[in-house]
Amino acid sequence: MSKIIASNFKTNHTRKTTLAFCNHLENFLNQKNIPHQIRLFPPNTALLDNYFKNFKIGAQNAYFTKNGSFTGEIGEEQLEEFGIQSLLIGHSERREYLGETQVFCAKKFEYFSQRDFEIFYCIGESLSTKKEGLEKTLTFLQSQLQGIDLDYPKLLIAYEPIWAIGTGISATLEEITQIHTYLKQILGRIPLLYGGSVKSQNIREIFKIPSVDGVLIGSASWEIESFKQILENSLEK
Ligand code: PGA
Repeated sequence: MSKIIASNFKTNHTRKTTLAFCNHLENFLNQKNIPHQIRLFPPNTALLDNYFKNFKIGAQNAYFTKNGSFTGEIGEEQLEEFGIQSLLIGHSERREYLGETQVFCAKKFEYFSQRDFEIFYCIGESLSTKKEGLEKTLTFLQSQLQGIDLDYPKLLIAYEPIWAIGTGISATLEEITQIHTYLKQILGRIPLLYGGSVKSQNIREIFKIPSVDGVLIGSASWEIESFKQILENSLEK
């Protein structure tokens, strides 16, 4: 079955290494029959023209404007130049380190959804919220959906518990199943991804969870060989 595999490069790779990665990946996918939809989110300095046949390039961030005076940001016009039509919004690192509030995330969503972008919208609780119990966690996750139009057809949600991101220890299959089952009740047909220490060793098991429509991968996707292994192991066996 076709699922979504998205790679978030975060603050890794240069323009040169991203191009090498993409060319390598394109060749690999030309030879393999991988049924999944693949997305790559390089840093904004390494955005490439979206000409690859086997995957699409998206942006990790953009400001809700066509252009203007927003020092350090890029807007719709800069994305247009590369044919970029996919965007990450609400990643926990932007919420945490860049201070992006729910209102701010919702504004980005509103702007780019009106422009027909595919939006990978991220939610996820911290360890301290998790420790407060399931009910608090679910209420928190729901608060991160405030202002997001769940009827938008090009919306995907990535559930990424912060405590599992970059730690090497993913949520357990039971934990993913529990939260995803609840989220599915709210989200209905919206594709639901899991993120947080997904790697070649756990992708197969994670993909067996019926409520997992895809994955958003950070660290394990940055090396091409490791990403290829993830793609290989994502196939049903
Ligand atoms: P990770 O990151 O795979 O390194 O845990 C996931 C993410 O932040 O999207």
